[in-house]
Amino acid sequence: MESTDNHWLQPETAKAFKDQHKAIPYQELLEDTIAWCRPRAGERWLDLGCGAGQLTKALWAAANGKLAEVVGSDCNPANEALYLKQQLTPHCPEGVRRFELCNFSSGLAQFPDGYFDGIVSGLAITYAEHKDPATGKYTDQAYTHLLKELKRVLKPGGRAVVSVNVPEPNFVSIMVKSFGSAFRIRSAGKAFVNGLRMLYTGRWLRKQARVGRFHYYPAEEVARRMEAAGFPAVRHRLSYAEQAIILRADIDPANSIAPKAA
Ligand SMILES: C[S@@+](CC[C@H](N)C(=O)[O-])C[C@H]1O[C@@H](n2cnc3c(N)ncnc32)[C@H](O)[C@@H]1O
Repeated sequence: MESTDNHWLQPETAKAFKDQHKAIPYQELLEDTIAWCRPRAGERWLDLGCGAGQLTKALWAAANGKLAEVVGSDCNPANEALYLKQQLTPHCPEGVRRFELCNFSSGLAQFPDGYFDGIVSGLAITYAEHKDPATGKYTDQAYTHLLKELKRVLKPGGRAVVSVNVPEPNFVSIMVKSFGSAFRIRSAGKAFVNGLRMLYTGRWLRKQARVGRFHYYPAEEVARRMEAAGFPAVRHRLSYAEQAIILRADIDPANSIAPKAA
């Protein structure tokens, strides 16, 4: 990422999104995503664009604490402490969970080929960005490269389960549907302030997507791009109050799972 104006790099953004999991639509997204991951004992997983680590926590619980390794990776340094502070149940032994600061707009160079059994990524890959230095225009180069990187770091039978927002996501509708839960939690005032910050970030994200910086594509387009990146079997479904698409991309079509009715 050449730019310094990216909100995802700011500590305030990490703080605002850390309570996102308390909202009802996010819980739906979390459950639907993990249901498609089906983590197994002894596997190594990457949580890409991990934020405060909600997916890691759910993945760990779904595997009954038996993963060999789980790596959270994010571009925002403020997420490291939030990620490592996340209480995992059952207990996670020292060294099994780690955080890697990584800006995926430049790829995933710090991860070796064929290292992970699975990759989970929640509402993050959309934000891979590249600006052509010759034209000054944003392109989809980093996004296309990132999809190939997902394939590269997976083992031959590996799978990636990613969620992405739908085109022109309605962040206001998500917020309204979230209010019921926001007011039940202890610090409703804080949740409201964080909600406003998320709305502000959401407006900015949509604006940037319109100029080609970020990539809110329809489900069929994301699936087509994942297939072009080397995943022969890609399934998708809606979640998150219909504001997100979950995709499961398998390297081996024999492992592809049947979609649950949305
Ligand atoms: C909407 S939040 C989702 C966080 C988390 N996956 C979850 O489901 O709670 C998007 C996350 O992607 C991260 N992100 C955005 N652009 C990134 C980039 N270029 N490289 C790595 N992480 C990025 C942000 O810092 C943020 O934590």
